[in-house]
Amino acid sequence: EEQLDSIMRLPKVELHLHHEGAAPPGFIRGLAKEKSVNLSGVFKADGSYAFRDFVHFLSVYEAATSVLKTPGDYARLTKAVLEESAANDVIYSETFLSPDFCGGGDVGAWREYLHAIREAAIETERDTGIILRGIVTCIRHFGPDQAKATALCAAETAGDWIVGFGIAGDESRGKPRDFAYSFDLAREAGLRLTAHAGEWSGAGSVREALDDLKVERIGHGVHAINDLALVDRLVENQITLEICPGSNVALNVYPNLAAHPIEKLRQRGVKVTVSTDDPPFFHTTMRDEYLNLARSFGWDETVFAEINDNAARAAFCDEDTRSRVL
Ligand code: ADE
Ligand code: ZN
Repeated sequence: EEQLDSIMRLPKVELHLHHEGAAPPGFIRGLAKEKSVNLSGVFKADGSYAFRDFVHFLSVYEAATSVLKTPGDYARLTKAVLEESAANDVIYSETFLSPDFCGGGDVGAWREYLHAIREAAIETERDTGIILRGIVTCIRHFGPDQAKATALCAAETAGDWIVGFGIAGDESRGKPRDFAYSFDLAREAGLRLTAHAGEWSGAGSVREALDDLKVERIGHGVHAINDLALVDRLVENQITLEICPGSNVALNVYPNLAAHPIEKLRQRGVKVTVSTDDPPFFHTTMRDEYLNLARSFGWDETVFAEINDNAARAAFCDEDTRSRVL
């Protein structure tokens, strides 16, 4: 028990966190009340987020996000999210941000949102030490045209603390190659690349993300375990997987943690990392993730040091920043 306690308190680098998906339900309910927005169907009777499955989760996510209407709302959200992460001993966090939710794809509005988020993050860093970097993210089910507008916003604001470009959303819609133009644009602007793949679709979707989008990290990627040649490729090319075990169990990708392939992938030499995805939606925290992995797989401090080192090395920040979290 003493050992679990010290594992839980280890400093952590988190690479896969959706900014809006980290909003506590009470925070969203409070904003909805302030703005007289009707959020019926978003919450269960006990106040937690209500969803039946992944596609329903995405629509509840978008409904909850609709109460975040101004840069000031995002400043408040950023403080709430980073304070919760810092309370879980997270020292460095990369969060997914989308112009689709912050200003509707307009570059000028997007800049104002980013400015507000950045100011809040600097203040929280001063108070808690936590470092925030942003990954601009297009949403797959919003389609390739909207993704181009997102990539243009990303290219305009690349550098400083905006370090990456990615894609989230419904993996069953469209193909990675439909988004290649946007990923090329982001890469040319100097952004580092990641894509959600192999969460809902199979190993082929991970291969397509690597081949067509040329990403260096994969969000989830867990279904790679069904294709051992692909696993070898991940190892050889040091592709880091942003694995979110609690999310996968909550959304029923796997029935329980014991059935989750994170340990098999690690044993085969894949660079695995641990993140929470949308923690209040999935009733998890970084401390919970660490505790549950220690209990399910017997991971000790040496294993957690290894996965946290993987995360620090795969972070999209500059080398000075990396040296502060290694
Ligand atoms: N958006 C928020 N969470 C997501 C997830 N786990 N997969 C895809 N899109 C998401
Ligand atoms: Zn995600």
